[in-house]
Amino acid sequence: MSKFLYENYKDYFRVGAAVSGIILMNDAERDELFQNMKRRMEEFKKNFKPQPGMPAFKFPEPQPYPMGDMPDKKLAAEQFNLVVAENECKMGSIYRGENQFDFSGADKLLAFAKQNNQAMRWHTLVWHNQSPRWIFEDGNGGKASKELLEERLKKYIFTVGERYKDDICSVDVVNECISDKNFVLRDGADRSQWFDILGPDYVDKAFFWAKEAFPNSSLVINDYNLEMIEGKRQGMYKLVKGMKERGVPVDTVGLQMHINIKNPPISEIEQTIELYGSLGLNVIVTEMEVSAYVDKDFEHPDPRREYDQAFLEQQAERYYQIFECFKKEAKAGILKDVVLWGVTDRMSWKNNFPVPGRTDAPLLFDGEGEPKAAFDRLCKD
Ligand code: XIL
Repeated sequence: MSKFLYENYKDYFRVGAAVSGIILMNDAERDELFQNMKRRMEEFKKNFKPQPGMPAFKFPEPQPYPMGDMPDKKLAAEQFNLVVAENECKMGSIYRGENQFDFSGADKLLAFAKQNNQAMRWHTLVWHNQSPRWIFEDGNGGKASKELLEERLKKYIFTVGERYKDDICSVDVVNECISDKNFVLRDGADRSQWFDILGPDYVDKAFFWAKEAFPNSSLVINDYNLEMIEGKRQGMYKLVKGMKERGVPVDTVGLQMHINIKNPPISEIEQTIELYGSLGLNVIVTEMEVSAYVDKDFEHPDPRREYDQAFLEQQAERYYQIFECFKKEAKAGILKDVVLWGVTDRMSWKNNFPVPGRTDAPLLFDGEGEPKAAFDRLCKD
């Protein structure tokens, strides 16, 4: 077996990682980011008006980033043959105003990928989160009209495609569009301003435009909890089945797979992949990690507990069993890529989600960049 993760799976699927722009920054850029965060937090505190009766609230203090190269950078370069930007290719990072685009973060990651002979995915074109506020406004204090928003979205998709179409293997065209409440398209009441202004056919339209803009990339509809919640899995099934029948060029379902040490059982992961496979679609895993906290364990009594050896071994076994299932589904021709949502535990978004400031340990490398038991388990047979 190889000491490089991706090599051990190269006959089955690519193994990718989400790369945070922070790990590609130099010290000066990282310090500037920290100063900005501090400034924004101070402003937020100054303007914060607590509702009457609201319990006292402790604002999190922004922490400075370590200086010098972080271990994540070397590990991202060495261990994976696919990368995706954790935040830098989201619309909010790029679409700065009418006809204004900032591609600096995306360009940086693409240069990194090229330097390391890696494929790159695009996350994401249309999402209800991390979209710029201006895009939904008309500039006169009102909502943008359907025509205006559609024009802006089209412009965005084609501008991004023009620049990156030859470098991007797959694109998350629409992200998280299924509602957790009723498992149909998320609407305005459920925080999708896309649905609110454009109506339900925005999903189809985005795929038709993406097909023109990225003619050679695979086009992905991406969501969370599909492997966890049966109703949501079926909701996505209905949606993509309908899209296929209407000739919409979706070819892949992305399973985010933000899962945990206990749930879901592997049989459900398998069933989910095969369900979408039965429609002739490919499946990729787009944002996997294995959290130490089970499901809605929001109130864990000891948020800063140490992760003991027993946990690390249990996690290793779980990663291994799931990757074995992935191998099977890759052999069946359904599963194509597996992407982890980060590199080291220290940088994982799970340290702030769903509970801000609660340390988690969901990835393959510890905070210092040392391989955990799970990494070793995936690299030996
Ligand atoms: C997360 C990033 O990891 C965080 O850094 C950011 O603050 C919020 O977004 N589903 C997605 C990802 O599709 O884009 C999210 O990434 C995690 C959940």
